[in-house]
Amino acid sequence: MSTLENETSLLGLAGKVALITGGGAGIGRATAELFARAGMRVAVAEIDAERVADTTATLKDLGSDALVIQADVRDKADVARIIDTIRERYGRLDVLMNNVGDFLRYKSYFVDSTEDQWEDLHQINLMHIFRVTKAAIPLMQETGGGSIINVSTVEAFRGIPMTVVYSAYNAAITGFTQSLSVELGQDRIRVNAIAPETTDSAQITAKSRVPAENRGDMERWFPLGRFGLGSDSAGAALFLASDTLSGWVTGQTIMVDGGVMTAGAWMRLPDGREWTHLPIIECDGYTPSKLRGAKD
Ligand SMILES: NC(=O)c1ccc[n+]([C@@H]2O[C@H](COP(=O)([O-])OP(=O)(O)OC[C@H]3O[C@@H](n4cnc5c(N)ncnc54)[C@H](O)[C@@H]3O)[C@@H](O)[C@H]2O)c1
Repeated sequence: MSTLENETSLLGLAGKVALITGGGAGIGRATAELFARAGMRVAVAEIDAERVADTTATLKDLGSDALVIQADVRDKADVARIIDTIRERYGRLDVLMNNVGDFLRYKSYFVDSTEDQWEDLHQINLMHIFRVTKAAIPLMQETGGGSIINVSTVEAFRGIPMTVVYSAYNAAITGFTQSLSVELGQDRIRVNAIAPETTDSAQITAKSRVPAENRGDMERWFPLGRFGLGSDSAGAALFLASDTLSGWVTGQTIMVDGGVMTAGAWMRLPDGREWTHLPIIECDGYTPSKLRGAKD
């Protein structure tokens, strides 16, 4: 057996079937590719025609018996069609990753937001998760168990100004994940979530938004010194997909955040040695070293 075959058999995922919504770009795409490399049969539901074609070609190149369906997960009939097509093609569903979500570039104070915006955010961040999950559960029950992975955000766990409603719907994903995990435990269906911090994707072009002169600051801004990559969240999803690795984990959210949530406001000062959680680098003439009693 080759090393790759050894690794994939260790995960216990070979031949299993996954559905990833929004798997044509960003975090969903990185996960689709990783799942295919783990030997899974990967179904993707993707709204964008170009991404459908591109994802189909890549998954085929990776040797996956893949199924890329052009569909809008906000549409009830499309959701029924996605699950029917998976049932016909594979006859089972082991992993569902509810990945679609977007802040839709609605950035304003809550008091200035509109009910139409709330409804758009509801449809793209929460409602389809209910709809796709409800449609998928009977097939997962027939399969004899499985893993549901909801993609949330760190903004569900801290206060974020100007994107209040997006954050509120993502916080609801936590409640949904916890309560559904209790309900589905007896069916051996685990339900967990992933909460990424800023990750380069089609929706978020994080790195290029930082002015060139500030890029060096990333090293001290995030404990792990960089923005996220799709592959970071894909790795967490692979862990949650695999019964071998996470078979006794349910109802949890994994922060994929480079340590940001744990650090809170703490960051290193430009000298790379000292730390602050305040917007000061000097206090009454004392540097942090002096405050700590150390010599300069
Ligand atoms: N990128 C980040 O910094 C970040 C941070 C926290 C959370 N997230 C969450 O991660 C998830 C993925 O984000 P991303 O940045 O990788 O997104 P992305 O925009 O790069 O990719 C999302 C994919 O979903 C597809 N899609 C959009 N609407 C759809 C619909 N109605 N039906 C089917 N497909 C649809 C898009 O065409 C795209 O291919 C989202 O839930 C997002 O909220 C992302």
